[in-house]
Amino acid sequence: MSSNGISELHENVIDQVLDLNGSPEVILQATCDLLHDTMPNWSWVGIYFLQGDQLILGPYQGPETEHEKIKVGEGVCGTAIKENKNMIVNDVSTIENYIACAPNTKSEIVVLIRYQDQVVGQFDVDSDNAANFSEQDEKLLLEVADLVGPYCRVLSAKA
Ligand code: SME
Repeated sequence: MSSNGISELHENVIDQVLDLNGSPEVILQATCDLLHDTMPNWSWVGIYFLQGDQLILGPYQGPETEHEKIKVGEGVCGTAIKENKNMIVNDVSTIENYIACAPNTKSEIVVLIRYQDQVVGQFDVDSDNAANFSEQDEKLLLEVADLVGPYCRVLSAKA
């Protein structure tokens, strides 16, 4: 762990995100691929764009999901928007309005993506392991969210 509380693995991921180039679509897909392939037990990594009162599925890596649209207030994803806060759920079976993407999912993290203080989307990450996500993971996703916020702003307008 370095002095700023970010692990070497996290620094490495951020460096790799900084090295990405291409269109917003390419960068966001590559970001999901990178997080999925690098972070331990991140079984599904996706971006939802916020459009009005709905979340629209953007790029993702992991098993296919049928949840292409989620209303604000529904599930962990919609609750994060409604309450304007990031969510770490250690055991998804405790969430009343949970929307199951894959039957094996045990824990989940949602981190809001902002552009100029406006929420434009979110990272949604599932794990097959219970309590897989830490505050360090939230910090990592927040840093990555800062980097990709402008691309999400562009694509959420198109979604
Ligand atoms: N589990 C999320 C739905 C999205 S899928 O996991 C891809 C939720 O409860 O909002």
